[in-house]
Amino acid sequence: MKKVLMMAMGLCFILSASPALAGAPEGEALFKGAAKCKNCHNTTDKKKVGPGLSKVLDRAGAEWVKSFLADPQAVWTADEGYTKTLKESVNSVGKPKPKHKTHKLTDEEIENLLDFLRTLT
Ligand code: HEC
Repeated sequence: MKKVLMMAMGLCFILSASPALAGAPEGEALFKGAAKCKNCHNTTDKKKVGPGLSKVLDRAGAEWVKSFLADPQAVWTADEGYTKTLKESVNSVGKPKPKHKTHKLTDEEIENLLDFLRTLT
């Protein structure tokens, strides 16, 4: 029994150590397709409806982006850390609501989107 457990743990380790950015192609498809991110975001630093997303993970951090995509309204309302910076940069400090209207993303979709965002330079 112990052996089986060890093997399972080893397998998990191997899987989690699979190459980074594995989800990038799916993230890109989602970005351009079903999740409609592309309607509002360029992948360069050029503003569209929302900020250009080039290097967004460098400024916002992966944890912030994850929380924001999972529940933009909650992150906006909590008004902590990078959210303050973003509000200032989009000049929307006083507005109670983020303009974000994406469909409800699953955790896997968020991970894939993050992998795609990591490829933006
Ligand atoms: C309806 C337009 C719209 C759509 C669709 C949209 N966004 Fe946004 N996004 C915005 C706006 C506007 C902001 C700036 C904050 C605000 O006002 O809500 C923003 C902010 C962001 C930020 C923070 C940018 C920064 O510079 O810090 C990220 C990351 C982001 N969006 C990712 C996404 C992803 C990924 C998708 C698709 C799942 C998406 N957005 C879909 C409009 C949109």
